[in-house]
Amino acid sequence: MGAQRTLPACSKRFLGGRWGEPAQGTYYDNENPAKRETICRVAQASAAEVDAAVRCAQQALEPGSAWAQMTPAARARLLWRVAERIREQVEELAWLESLDTGKPYGEALHGDIPHAAGAFEYYAGWCSKLAGSVLPVSPRYLDYTRLEPVGVVGAIIPWNFPLQMAAIKVAPALAAGNAVLLKPAEQTPLTAFALARIFEELEFPPGVLSVLPGFGETGAAMVAHPGIDKITFTGSTAVGKIIMRGAADTLKRVSLELGGKSPNIVFADADLKRAVRGATTGIYYNQGQMCTAGSRILVQDSLYDKFLEAFTAAIADLRPGDPLDPKTRMGALVSQEQFDRVSHYVALGQEDGATLLAGGQGSADSGYFFPPTIFTDVQPTHRIAQEEIFGPVVSILRFGNEEEALRLANGVSYGLAAGVWTADVGRAHRIAHGLRAGTVWVNTYNALWNEAPFGGYKQSGIGREGGREGIEPYTEVKNICLSL
Ligand code: NAI
Ligand code: MG
Repeated sequence: MGAQRTLPACSKRFLGGRWGEPAQGTYYDNENPAKRETICRVAQASAAEVDAAVRCAQQALEPGSAWAQMTPAARARLLWRVAERIREQVEELAWLESLDTGKPYGEALHGDIPHAAGAFEYYAGWCSKLAGSVLPVSPRYLDYTRLEPVGVVGAIIPWNFPLQMAAIKVAPALAAGNAVLLKPAEQTPLTAFALARIFEELEFPPGVLSVLPGFGETGAAMVAHPGIDKITFTGSTAVGKIIMRGAADTLKRVSLELGGKSPNIVFADADLKRAVRGATTGIYYNQGQMCTAGSRILVQDSLYDKFLEAFTAAIADLRPGDPLDPKTRMGALVSQEQFDRVSHYVALGQEDGATLLAGGQGSADSGYFFPPTIFTDVQPTHRIAQEEIFGPVVSILRFGNEEEALRLANGVSYGLAAGVWTADVGRAHRIAHGLRAGTVWVNTYNALWNEAPFGGYKQSGIGREGGREGIEPYTEVKNICLSL
């Protein structure tokens, strides 16, 4: 960890290619959740600054501008250089991410940051491949399509994977030729500033990316602004609904990546060791603060006791510790709010009559630490089995046959992801087809790729990120028809 360690310019925001103090001078304290100490004061962007950033973005998109005139190949090279800078600074960025979120440094170093670089590399390749088509309508007409940028994109992101979330939105939006206003989560602005610093160093045309830190109000100002053409959001289902309603006034396009209550379904013929390992990281990675968290484990009756014993043993040495220690596998929750929320759900589970088998008691004295927690004797109707907890709390339920497994798995309002553990290939596909979820993992979990589409069924969201499906929503299709 010998790399450079500097905090970005937290008291400023990056707007129109320049760093500036906020007009109205509103600041808030950004906390290190593993120590409960203030890292820095952050400038909060107002509605007036959202407006200024929109105007800069619109200028960047004007027909004669440097950005609009750039060839796709040149745009690709610029995006690729963003990835290079991210990889060069991987240690510093991982440090910032760990400091800001409380996540283990090692996870940011090997997970979040390389994944963010990968998003820029992957979508750099798409710049020159977003081709329209020529349509065989009639011998007397030439009819063709163009995939044009949607325009000004507002990206509102959460705190659980800050740089990765920024990258999976900014990279495809820019690859398709848009301009972006990025609003990081109030809890975790550091790597968004670091990204802005990279854009500044690479001399992107001003207005192509603005970074506007702030709370929900800043996001709401973006949703309301008539100059923003599309909102792409990751966060809670509750706020996703507010955004969709708000976007209706100006008919903005919306992409929503929301919550989940994903099942890990373990059949009796599964490789027990692998299933236990997958189910453990499935729920406890990032302290359970993941939209894909495998927060319900469904185990087939005849394996139930053996699975429970192995799962309980597996978490024995999974204790929360200092996130900046490279050996730590479990860090802190992101905030007092999340700590309270997780504690509240543990109390609810007990009130509803579920058995608290392990964990359940956090400590917020000098950091928001919460141990791996297991509930058994959970009824499918219990709130802990229906609602997103977003913490290290898992419900283990049992099932008899495939039909019951599917009924339980699909019996929630979410449909983001699911895991299936079995040695039977036919069953793996049958279950995968029957699940109402955007991603199904077979004998693995949380295998996420920039190359593959990711997103939710039902109340887990609208749209996909990653892959070709992840760039198309940043385009408008124009049809041009010419009489020969
Ligand atoms: P949130 O949905 O309130 O925050 C996500 C982002 O939306 C932040 O940037 C926030 O400033 C912004 N935002 C908040 N209100 C807004 C509004 N009215 N208009 C526009 N933008 C707005 O999530 P929060 O409160 O941090 O976490 C609460 C719960 O949400 C978590 O416990 C978890 O269940 C879920 N969540 C899910 C995530 C996911 O990856 N699917 C990520 C973060 C939270
Ligand atoms: Mg923070």
